[in-house]
Amino acid sequence: MDLTRERVDDLRQLVLHHQHRYYVLDDPEISDAAFDALFRELQSLEEQHPEFSDSNSPTIRVGGALTERFEKVEHQVPVLSLANAFGEEDLRRWRERLLRLLPEDEQALLSYVVEPKFDGLTVVLQYEDGRFTLGATRGDGEVGENITPNLRTVRQLPLQIPVLSQDEGEAATSLSHPGRLILRGEVYVDEDDFLEFNRSQEERGERTYANPRNFAAGSLRLLDSRISAERPLKLWTYQTFQLEADLESPVSHWDSLALLRRYGFPVCDESRRFSDEEWEELVGFVTNWHELRQRLPYELDGMVVKVDLLSQQERLGFTGKDPRWAVAFKTGGEEATTKLLDIGVKVGRTGAITPNAVLDPVPIGGVTVQAATLHNADYVEELDIRIGDTVLVKRAGDVIPKVLRPLTELRDGSEKPWKMPADCPSCGERLVRPPEEAATYCLNNACPDQLVRKVEYFVSRGAMDIVGFGTKQAELFVESGYIRTLADVYRLPWEQIEALEGYADKRVENLRLGVEESKSRGATRLLTALGIRFVGSVVAELLMARFDTIHELMDADVETLSEIEGVGPKIAEAVVSYFELEPNRTLVALFSEFGVDLASAHSLRATVPDEQPFTGKTFVITGTLPTLSRNEAKTCIETWGGKVTGSVSSKTDFLLAGEKAGSKLAKAQQLGIRILSEQELLASGGQIAESA
Ligand code: IVH
Repeated sequence: MDLTRERVDDLRQLVLHHQHRYYVLDDPEISDAAFDALFRELQSLEEQHPEFSDSNSPTIRVGGALTERFEKVEHQVPVLSLANAFGEEDLRRWRERLLRLLPEDEQALLSYVVEPKFDGLTVVLQYEDGRFTLGATRGDGEVGENITPNLRTVRQLPLQIPVLSQDEGEAATSLSHPGRLILRGEVYVDEDDFLEFNRSQEERGERTYANPRNFAAGSLRLLDSRISAERPLKLWTYQTFQLEADLESPVSHWDSLALLRRYGFPVCDESRRFSDEEWEELVGFVTNWHELRQRLPYELDGMVVKVDLLSQQERLGFTGKDPRWAVAFKTGGEEATTKLLDIGVKVGRTGAITPNAVLDPVPIGGVTVQAATLHNADYVEELDIRIGDTVLVKRAGDVIPKVLRPLTELRDGSEKPWKMPADCPSCGERLVRPPEEAATYCLNNACPDQLVRKVEYFVSRGAMDIVGFGTKQAELFVESGYIRTLADVYRLPWEQIEALEGYADKRVENLRLGVEESKSRGATRLLTALGIRFVGSVVAELLMARFDTIHELMDADVETLSEIEGVGPKIAEAVVSYFELEPNRTLVALFSEFGVDLASAHSLRATVPDEQPFTGKTFVITGTLPTLSRNEAKTCIETWGGKVTGSVSSKTDFLLAGEKAGSKLAKAQQLGIRILSEQELLASGGQIAESA
């Protein structure tokens, strides 16, 4: 064989091997840089020698050609679903039925495997001679869609199965593999990655997803696999069909999972096996699944209990579309159904209009829920949610409750479809929906509700940080007509306010001091507080590093702004169009007149030599924090001089971890990185860095 060809083959094997170590075993053997070098060498050889191309080369993971539409594929094995057991009693009944159906001498052999029920998109994977040949969606169970190109981009999916030698798990070097394998798995996305994705989409004004499941499903069904490749998709495999192994065929589900692991498939470590004698422990493990869910970085939809022996599975067979040998355990816990009484809309700071569900109050997980978000008009339309519907509502952790879907089977015909109103509910102006955007906007700058949200944001912690000034004050001052533009925050009629109920003496004095104090926050904070589209605290900082004052920034053109690193044309245009509007220029002039500081930090650097306590320290944020949003935590860290990055590495100094922290936490622990809670961060006042 030609030497180049050999090198290409060797590189493919090496890259696949290291991807498996990194993505599946979470135990890399070589540095990222060394891996990148191998990957790039392979890519460049493949470019120079198209004759060696192979659809299962690991370079395919960056995505391939555009698909026009997904072909239909008939499943070789029907993709069945699972019967549900809602609660302990149901689960016990399921076992009793097994005991009735199995002959007495078989009952002693009964054992179970319990595994998480992953909440993603079900996929069917097919391998021939060790090569990944077909990946399909479930579809209607008989016919699915061929999404092979997109699945090839999922890093944890083995493209080649190695031949295994008989002794434990040693992969031989040959790539050919006898036999045929059909298996099922779930493609999912970590909660953290989902939140991060939505946040960056939001910043760019692009489409967001309602939950990690929709995100995974949407990403797998993109026609351009290069975009799928950029999505943080992950895979668990959990069920084999037609396993023609080159080793002894497994006799139990447990063994087949072990074999899948040896073949390089991602198999979840949280599964456990119980004998029938250990039934009570099994019940304890299963009913406690919320604890597991809290700990794992991805969503679960319950637990699955399966009869372990394949011979017993076969004997038990199926009823209709469900296997008798398996059951999905769920608890109502965080979901409930209730009536959707009405749909209202809320005007946001940017003028974006969000539909909200008015619900017949219903207790979910110990809290009475009477409102839930409906995201945007498309969400309501796509799910066909109608006023009067019985809807499924979910409340997870401290996240805003949301309407998952209507129970259409309960409709009586009186339900009314909803349409986004044509006019703003607050100011009556015509609403506008820009083409290609999911959001609808009120473009009226003087819209009262919008103004309240703008003021709320202006005074918030990440922005001008005015102590004692919150939503209540914003609403009150806008309603009383004291605030008509943001500049009015600095000319409030204190004497009149003093006369308002609850604002006597000290309270007004404190508020006044807070307002006064905020004047010296500097240009970056003020720029952030203006709430210009795409300009959060990070972009504001980039911008103000280039200019001495906001006046200077105001006169810059798109070209100059786009040249700043980290500021693209989209941001540049947003800034320029903002300052093109006369009322916005007047606003800045007024701030200046009222003594608000418009100078950037670097223009003052000579006079403020103080190093911040977190200067030079790098933070990563993970999980859900008890009180701060991620943006707030970020601002906090940045205010104290620190930097926030997306992924944990040896360069990370601190991990700020909240609930549901996942792989980032594990990695940080491994690297011995100091882990902080929100409370520790806040209590430190930025002083932690000293002691680190
Ligand atoms: S076993 C023949 N195990 O849940 C039975 N299914 O409601 C094969 N699911 O779409 C299914 N996690 O794909 C099984 N650990 C797990 C699972 C699991 C998620 C999905 C399954 C199906 C749905 C059934």
